[in-house]
Amino acid sequence: MAYIPEKETELLWWRDGVIYQIYPRSFMDTNGDGIGDLKGIISRLDYLAQLGVSAIWLSPISPSPDFDFGYDVSDYKDVDPKYGTLEDYKELIRKAHEHNIRVILDLVLNHTSTSHPWFVESAKPDPNEYSDYYLWQPGKKGKRPPNNWISLFTQKNGWEYVPERDQYYFHMFAKQQADLNWRNPKVYREMMDVFRFWLDLGADGFRLDVFNLYFKDASFRSNPERFNLIPFNRQEHIYDTDQAEMAGVVRDIRSILNEYPQRYVVGEQFLSKEGNLNRYSGDDKLHAMFDFDFTHSPWNASSYRKIIAGVEAKAGNFSWPTYVLNNHDTTRSATRFGLGEFDERLKQAAALTLFLRGTPFLYYGEEIGMRETELKRNELMDPVGKNFYPFHKGRDGCRSPMQWNSQTNAGFSSGNPWNKLHPNFPERNVNAMIHDPNSLWSFYRDAIQQRKNHKTLQTGDLTLLDQKNETVLSFLRRYKNQIALVAINFSQIPTTFSLADITSPFKWNGTFSNKPLQEPSPEAKTIRLEGEQIALFHGKIGNLA
Ligand code: GLC
Repeated sequence: MAYIPEKETELLWWRDGVIYQIYPRSFMDTNGDGIGDLKGIISRLDYLAQLGVSAIWLSPISPSPDFDFGYDVSDYKDVDPKYGTLEDYKELIRKAHEHNIRVILDLVLNHTSTSHPWFVESAKPDPNEYSDYYLWQPGKKGKRPPNNWISLFTQKNGWEYVPERDQYYFHMFAKQQADLNWRNPKVYREMMDVFRFWLDLGADGFRLDVFNLYFKDASFRSNPERFNLIPFNRQEHIYDTDQAEMAGVVRDIRSILNEYPQRYVVGEQFLSKEGNLNRYSGDDKLHAMFDFDFTHSPWNASSYRKIIAGVEAKAGNFSWPTYVLNNHDTTRSATRFGLGEFDERLKQAAALTLFLRGTPFLYYGEEIGMRETELKRNELMDPVGKNFYPFHKGRDGCRSPMQWNSQTNAGFSSGNPWNKLHPNFPERNVNAMIHDPNSLWSFYRDAIQQRKNHKTLQTGDLTLLDQKNETVLSFLRRYKNQIALVAINFSQIPTTFSLADITSPFKWNGTFSNKPLQEPSPEAKTIRLEGEQIALFHGKIGNLA
């Protein structure tokens, strides 16, 4: 199976550990230009080790004109000077490894920036080496776009006319992000080379940006249309996503990674489709794919239970699940859950992601419950917000500077931060929370430690319990004769949940919770929980005598 190492006892960093996403612009600035940098990340490795994460995933660090803040790459094989140099990158890898932290890079291979030298050449009228690097097509009947494909970021036709070539190029995102022509063998080789380049420089893994878009229909057929109020959803995306050629791509990527020990690749799927998990991940394909259902679940037991059951059913034993509460594209969970400044629910959500069967992805600042910032229209920088305000305020609010302390600019930068700080930073910051044993930060650290210390929480099987219970979500993790029982009371009032589903006799030996908790008696058939309590009970199955 894809995720079982040769020796069963061996730890797999990406399966058993916790992955922490860093948005480099916003993490830590060391040169005072208001933008985070690699040296800043290096300076916080002690912090990350103290929190207990096994790996960091860096949002793109390659050169970019930042129309989409790094997701529009203008050189795949370098580091953007605003983040540092390739030497800084190598030092980051070296030091991260000294801290036993792996480094995952974000590869944006569906499109490049239109400032990429390939595109600049490609747009020229005279045929050259790069003419066929992008999806160029003549207009239909002269002046109409080649087909009906839509751009997500403009919600208008995604073909852009270039007079010099008298042709259109396609962009699924902004017009500054031109989609590459993966059918061109030269482009294909360039892309595979990007993997080797960074692997040779010590990268431990990759997160693939919208990878299931790489190929588009060879004859550029229009998508079938259907009724919907949102233009992008007004068509079935059958010719601009998930083309058959992707089956070969995921295998080629995996075989490159297999040449290096213990590497990992996780894919971000665009418009998730039933069956894609099996299609793209497994033994000889990607290790995993993101599941974003948690990012839009309402806060109730039934909804989370349903998602978990779905993840378990879909993953089977060919793919290792992932759980995500936050990332750089989503309103922060602390704001989604509408909590004011209270954090108990965030502790519950943390335990949920950390104790499930799958890799938890944390997003910088989640461990201190950073809230979304509010930006005025004229402060917006994200193209999504700029195009769709006030219907969509964009993603700047979940990318605000990390709140390290209560000093100037929350300790993030001595200069002028590129993005607005949250006004709550004088109280809500790492320095304040790290010293408070009851803080959300301390809870994250301790919960990560629980996962580290217990095989049950890493690779144990998962069984949902008491499934009709509307307020308590409970599940059992089992590894050989050891068990871990996790229960989360979603309501603010005390309640109980039933152990009737567990038939074997068991003996408890240890608990963990955000509130006072007693070990239940061995005969207990129900367990009581306080309001907003998350309880973890360790135990052993077998002879109770
Ligand atoms: C992915 C990224 C997002 C980016 C888009 C285009 O969805 O997560 O931030 O804007 O792809 O690259």
